[in-house]
Amino acid sequence: MTSLGSSPGTSPQARPQTSSQVTRQPSSPGDRPLGVAAIGYAFMGKAHSNAWRNVASYFDVPAFEQKVLVGRDAEAVAAAAASYGWAESATDWREVIRRDDIDIVDICAPGWMHAEIAIAALEAGKHVLVEKPLANTLAEAEAMTEAARAARARGVQSMIGFNYRRVPALALAKEFIAEGRIGTVRHVRAAYLQDWLVDPESPMTWRLNKETAGSGALGDIASHAIDQVLFLLGDSVADVSGRLHTFVTSRPGPSGPEEVTVDDAAWATLTLASGAIASVEVSRMATGQKNSLQLEIYGDQGSLLFDLEAFNELGFLDATVPVREQGFRRILVNEPEHPYMDAWWPQGHIIGWEHTFTHEIRDFLTAIVDGTEPSPSFDDGLAVQRILAAVEESANAKSSIIPLASATTSTSIEGA
Ligand SMILES: NC(=O)c1ccc[n+]([C@@H]2O[C@H](COP(=O)([O-])OP(=O)(O)OC[C@H]3O[C@@H](n4cnc5c(N)ncnc54)[C@H](O)[C@@H]3O)[C@@H](O)[C@H]2O)c1
Repeated sequence: MTSLGSSPGTSPQARPQTSSQVTRQPSSPGDRPLGVAAIGYAFMGKAHSNAWRNVASYFDVPAFEQKVLVGRDAEAVAAAAASYGWAESATDWREVIRRDDIDIVDICAPGWMHAEIAIAALEAGKHVLVEKPLANTLAEAEAMTEAARAARARGVQSMIGFNYRRVPALALAKEFIAEGRIGTVRHVRAAYLQDWLVDPESPMTWRLNKETAGSGALGDIASHAIDQVLFLLGDSVADVSGRLHTFVTSRPGPSGPEEVTVDDAAWATLTLASGAIASVEVSRMATGQKNSLQLEIYGDQGSLLFDLEAFNELGFLDATVPVREQGFRRILVNEPEHPYMDAWWPQGHIIGWEHTFTHEIRDFLTAIVDGTEPSPSFDDGLAVQRILAAVEESANAKSSIIPLASATTSTSIEGA
């Protein structure tokens, strides 16, 4: 399937990603359509495939082809490839990244595979999009970031899939903060709550084993919440204290009970370089909460509220108006002026979670063809990974405060 990009969604508002000072580079050798391979066809494989399939219908992107979908089970991956719009399927990712007709590798496999695949793909000259968290360990994340920097010097791009940066309401929140609309940010509350592990009989999966998942709720969902803090504030973290807890320590495996070796819930307090404080609370055991990402940002001149369950809305309180007029207003982030929104439907015709992946792929393709560094980069993923590691270190030391070397994060999401 060839997607030749051209669409109505080409105005500056729909093009939030790249600098205006860019030189378009050939998108692929010989300027043929970019060849894309995705590795993994389950949850994220399906979400990314949906985005690859529809991005060119809404945004002006370079020509590309959904070449090959990779999995382990030949029959199942072939069926997935057929229904998700991929031309073919394969079971050996190493063979796929060696192919001359593959230019982009989209890694939707579990964290324990990220480093090996990403480094091999970058070294083979392929642009790489990898799901979060960057890796399972800090050492792997550092090796990936080094490989990404070396590849970038050769014109090969990489990006980590923190897709919530592409929620229009959060991109708007970032604009408001950068414009000073809420003044100096004093503190942030970030919570990401789910409940899919409430039942102690819920079986073991790769997500509950440290070897395969690296950590539990911490790497899985605190990574998103922490990335949002860095992204929204454009700040870095100076120190961290944390706590981890596993409520159910053994779960049914295929041949009997297996030990759960990761956290079910995590708490962290982050001191930002600016002096702001962020609290981060995540759980996969918050009964009744399905996928609740909530962000509250409090400045000295106003506040912002976001709840993923009200995806299209941003709460804004302007504390500079007389107190008798103050109150949170609900901004419906569905106007063509809002980030990404002029590519979609008329005002008030709301969008949802899956659109974040379309925005992500669109920004990645645009960066590749423009030769600009995609954001968030592997360096940004590494910044989050250092904070995750510090939370673990703190939790192991009775919540001691762990200082972090000052690090900057590229928080640009142009237009956002
Ligand atoms: N951005 C988000 O909102 C979000 C949500 C969920 C998961 N994730 C991340 O996406 C990644 C994948 O998670 P998921 O939920 O899709 O997992 P999943 O278990 O649903 O799917 C994993 C896929 O990887 C494939 N795979 C495993 N080993 C393989 C191999 N050797 N060769 C080829 N394919 C292989 C499996 O066949 C499966 O298709 C993780 O890094 C996870 O943290 C991100």
